[in-house]
Amino acid sequence: MTLALEVRDVSLRFGGLQALQDVSVDVGEWEIVGLIGPNGAGKTTFFNVLTGIYRPDSGRVLFQGVDVTRMPTHKRVRLGMGRTWQNLGVVPTLTVIDNLLTAQHAHIRYSPLGALFGSPGSFLEERELKRNAEEILDFLGLLELADEPVGGLPYGTQKLCDLAMALATDPQILLLDEPSSGMGPEEAHRLGDTLRYLRDSLNLTILMIEHHVPLVVGVCDYVYVLSFGELLAKGSPAEVQSHPDVIAAYLGDEAETILREEASGSSAAAELEPDSAAAADALSEEEVPADAAARG
Ligand SMILES: Nc1ncnc2c1ncn2[C@@H]1O[C@H](COP(=O)(O)OP(=O)(O)OP(=O)(O)O)[C@@H](O)[C@H]1O
Ligand SMILES: [Mg+2]
Repeated sequence: MTLALEVRDVSLRFGGLQALQDVSVDVGEWEIVGLIGPNGAGKTTFFNVLTGIYRPDSGRVLFQGVDVTRMPTHKRVRLGMGRTWQNLGVVPTLTVIDNLLTAQHAHIRYSPLGALFGSPGSFLEERELKRNAEEILDFLGLLELADEPVGGLPYGTQKLCDLAMALATDPQILLLDEPSSGMGPEEAHRLGDTLRYLRDSLNLTILMIEHHVPLVVGVCDYVYVLSFGELLAKGSPAEVQSHPDVIAAYLGDEAETILREEASGSSAAAELEPDSAAAADALSEEEVPADAAARG
């Protein structure tokens, strides 16, 4: 497996808080990898290290074999690292298409002077960019909304606009921070299909933070679990879902006690069993893809 992203022992401290501790993550080319974990686990912080918003105190980030740990964000975007934001990267007052055109400027090839004087080259380029932006919108089912201000759209649709903006930077890896938030179950299911189609048709690699379990189980080849800044587990979605530490992390200390008592066969555990079954339920989904465990 050729690695698109290789993160080695990344640590980052905010004052008294160890936000990340020796986190190592591999994402193979063409994989869809999930990053899950309870609120405040450090998932977004990890993305901020990957994209250059934060520099880690120690550790390294390699993208396609290039050490980008100290590279500024715009250079990482140019190398092919695209991201979406947990709380949206769109400008709400701009229309959908204008948000995309703005995002594309990270990739513009003509000289700023040429653009200023409207040289034929830059007109052509602008037209090409617009066509490219419209193709992306069409692909995501957003073309009809191209001239709507983003701020007036439902939150789930705004998340799709954010995804469109990331695509407009022509990425090779997409880093998605909770792409399904604000979406209903059906919309989230469609998003799963879209992500798989994106991977297949554009040869993309995807790393996504996601809380919606059916989406993680449905599309991810591999999953990493972060808790209190440390990797708690990794494996196929099925492996991770049934991992006692993961179930405990999602339910807190209480679940941990339940699971420990269950393991020792105490009678108190029997009474509490429905709770831990609920935890397993919360993390479970019927459709576990047969190829989920294939990684090598
Ligand atoms: N710039 C910062 N300065 C200080 N503390 C921060 C900063 N950014 C994040 N934190 C803290 O780091 C921890 C991890 O936050 P982070 O946003 O990465 O979690 P998360 O896993 O993305 O959570 P959520 O699921 O709620 O989005 C939290 O305790 C948060 O308060
Ligand atoms: Mg977050």
